[in-house]
Amino acid sequence: MTDTLIIYYSFTGNSKKVAEYVKNKIKADILELEPLVPFSNDYNTVVQEWQNNDIKRDVEIKEINKDLTNYQKIVLITCTWWYGISPVMKKFLKQYDLSNKDIIVASSNAGWIGQSFSDYKKLLPNSNIKGELDLVFSAKDNERDKILIPEKEIDDWLEKLN
Ligand SMILES: Cc1cc2nc3c(=O)[nH]c(=O)nc-3n(C[C@H](O)[C@H](O)[C@H](O)COP(=O)(O)O)c2cc1C
Repeated sequence: MTDTLIIYYSFTGNSKKVAEYVKNKIKADILELEPLVPFSNDYNTVVQEWQNNDIKRDVEIKEINKDLTNYQKIVLITCTWWYGISPVMKKFLKQYDLSNKDIIVASSNAGWIGQSFSDYKKLLPNSNIKGELDLVFSAKDNERDKILIPEKEIDDWLEKLN
């Protein structure tokens, strides 16, 4: 049994890679969020479609298969979409209750994290946010999967959950 759950959404795999890194570092369960209807496979189409990614814009997500009451500590990782956390993560936080839990949050991005941390704060008004991680990857088209922060930053952020 573990009291820690990693919850992530990843469109192109960067956040997923970090979620799996975390899973290997600490004893935790893991939950992948998914949109009910998959987004287009074409990167640029999705970039255009989500230009108006404000906090009110919703997308339906698949039902989760974890009982959140079993976990006191939560690690949240998502990609940044248009200067905020992904619509999938937003929807999850609107739909499920993480009140009174200890949480660390991350938003993977290509250098423009925007208001992602304030999105998390708005959607987690009754949670204890103990750490934030600006997870920067390359913005170059041919190396979007290249992480630009040292592993130690991830490890230090993970420590904040203790
Ligand atoms: C629809 C869309 C919007 C994006 N908006 C931003 C943005 O506002 N700022 C930024 O730095 N990167 C932006 N990106 C790039 C991703 O945040 C970045 O590549 C991230 O590492 C991808 O994580 P993932 O592989 O887990 O999906 C955007 C990507 C997509 C597909």
